[in-house]
Amino acid sequence: MDFNRTVLVTGGSGFIGSHLVCSLVDRHPDWRIINLDNLDYCCSPRSLESVEDRANYTFIRGDVCNSRLVNHIFNTENIDVIFHLAAKTHVERSFETPSSFQRVNIDGTRVLLGAAHQARHQPQRFIYVSTDEVYGASLDQVFDESSPVRPSNPYSATKAAAEYLVQSYWDKYKFPIIITRSNNIYGPRQYTEKVIPRFLTLLQRNKKCTIQGTLPKSRHFLFVDDAINAFLLVLEKGIVGEIYNMGTSCEIPIMQLARELVTMVKKVPDSEVQDWLEFVPDRPHVDLRYPITCEKLQQLGWRAEVSWAEGIRQTVKWYQVHPDFWSDASEDQEQIQSQLEKAE
Ligand SMILES: NC(=O)c1ccc[n+]([C@@H]2O[C@H](COP(=O)([O-])OP(=O)(O)OC[C@H]3O[C@@H](n4cnc5c(N)ncnc54)[C@H](O)[C@@H]3O)[C@@H](O)[C@H]2O)c1
Repeated sequence: MDFNRTVLVTGGSGFIGSHLVCSLVDRHPDWRIINLDNLDYCCSPRSLESVEDRANYTFIRGDVCNSRLVNHIFNTENIDVIFHLAAKTHVERSFETPSSFQRVNIDGTRVLLGAAHQARHQPQRFIYVSTDEVYGASLDQVFDESSPVRPSNPYSATKAAAEYLVQSYWDKYKFPIIITRSNNIYGPRQYTEKVIPRFLTLLQRNKKCTIQGTLPKSRHFLFVDDAINAFLLVLEKGIVGEIYNMGTSCEIPIMQLARELVTMVKKVPDSEVQDWLEFVPDRPHVDLRYPITCEKLQQLGWRAEVSWAEGIRQTVKWYQVHPDFWSDASEDQEQIQSQLEKAE
């Protein structure tokens, strides 16, 4: 079958990537969607079960840092659009193993950019999915896209460095890049190390929500369906060379988040919520909040449509219906790993 467009999604087996891949495959049967992912510990092949047999979907298991593989993909497929999501994403792990974050997030972006730029078939768009964390924290200033970048952990530092690489291909070659910087995205299938699934998984195992530190941390949460609509809008209407903040005014203190989840999952009265909270030491530095404005994206016609109440309801329900999704996934990962080790 001839396809009208070929889209390469890197990190398409991860949380956001799998939602993006499923939407692209469903909404655009005339587009070919290629997912390049090395199936790191944080993803499950089950996230893409609904599309794995579809004629317009192809999965390539591989590393974005592998220049031979990435060049081969660009030399053999006529890639029109790249959504680059593959990354190491967990802030706390980034303090433990910063070099792996540098390798995947910076080198991987360099390899992908170089291959895309040199491809015979010139891509129309290279969309780099970055984060609001590149701004660093703010107590009162609201960041727009021209605000200075001041990352404060190895994860956000590598995302910022990758942004500069991406931007340089626009500055030097007018290579058609777009950068998105989004708030915390949440929803079904997110790996259990991120705050919402972490709390939900603890509560499902009858354990307390562990709140790190006593400082009043809060996060802006964007439901994954709204984020996917934003990515697809940026693809069609975004201006090349531009950066788009992607976020919501829904700011939730982490303490309130924990209390809401306890009430929803444990169905206890207010007086007993505290019994399900436990305070643990914080990491040395933690950003309190990342407020951003999204006027540029809104001018393209985007609005977040899913309320916090609805988004968290859908998320909690998904984790209740799939309590073993992530424990099964780690067993799958162990099996894959031991098969790979035996094959070596
Ligand atoms: N989740 C959020 O709240 C959020 C917010 C803003 C930006 N982002 C960005 O969005 C992107 C996706 O985030 P996510 O939450 O889905 O993360 P995730 O950790 O769920 O997914 C990352 C994916 O990248 C893959 N990957 C890792 N290393 C790879 C490599 N070397 N080669 C190929 N694939 C590799 C993993 O297997 C996984 O499927 C990331 O770039 C992240 O920085 C996420």
